[in-house]
Amino acid sequence: MNGSAATSFTDLALSIQAGCRRVGQTGSVETVRSALLGVDVPVVAAPMAGGPTTPRLVAAVGSCGAFAFLAAGYQPPEAVAEEIAAARATGLPFGVNVFVPTPVPVDDAAFRRYAARIADEGRPYGLDLAAAPRTEDDDHWAEKIALLVRDPVPVVSFTFGLPTAAVVRDLRRAGSRLLVTVTDPAEAAAAADLGVDGLVAQSGHAGGHYGTFTPGLPRTRPAPRGAGRSGRRPHRPARPRGGRRGRGR
Ligand SMILES: Cc1cc2nc3c(=O)[nH]c(=O)nc-3n(C[C@H](O)[C@H](O)[C@H](O)COP(=O)(O)O)c2cc1C
Repeated sequence: MNGSAATSFTDLALSIQAGCRRVGQTGSVETVRSALLGVDVPVVAAPMAGGPTTPRLVAAVGSCGAFAFLAAGYQPPEAVAEEIAAARATGLPFGVNVFVPTPVPVDDAAFRRYAARIADEGRPYGLDLAAAPRTEDDDHWAEKIALLVRDPVPVVSFTFGLPTAAVVRDLRRAGSRLLVTVTDPAEAAAAADLGVDGLVAQSGHAGGHYGTFTPGLPRTRPAPRGAGRSGRRPHRPARPRGGRRGRGR
């Protein structure tokens, strides 16, 4: 872990925790481990969409007494259903992470510029990335939520935004505990207001995905201490994640 990344991550975690403490209490690792996730070992394998996370990985982590998430992102709901069935067959606790659709339209010119920039990388695989059509979708959000309501899992986590209150209600009724990834105190307060069970605090230096709610304004550094404190009451355990130096979303 890079030193400056570690420092800024610590700043972010402290900033969020300070916001929580002002009006309530922050969960310790013990609270998160035992009460929220129900595992013996205080280690969580983060979801990694796009292939790295598999039911085998989830089973391997679970068999060590730790907790792992399946990654529903970028997969059709049928594939997610199969992965849930495979993870459930182990009898070990696990969670499912879902990407919240972000209603930010893609700028066509920016998309074309980016596609041209990465075109060389596609060539060895026979891909013409520069000519790729622009596709906007919501990653099958409604179908994935319907699946999780129909076929509940112990924990559902959300990344890139907040679920609606109705989704929170339905998943709660189905018996799932809910977590939201947040990247600054304002996002933490908004998630707490929704009544979720816990927060996953992530720094702007996190690897793979920076889970900000506002991709149009990516931060290269975490918010300064106290930024966005709303005075609302995020009485939620916070689980720090993401200290590695890496790019944002
Ligand atoms: C290949 C890859 C895929 C990822 N996919 C997801 C994902 O589907 N959902 C999510 O919330 N975070 C995702 N992340 C972010 C991780 O959950 C985690 O926040 C990040 O890796 C920071 O932790 P680290 O610094 O220990 O790597 C991904 C990270 C990587 C490297």
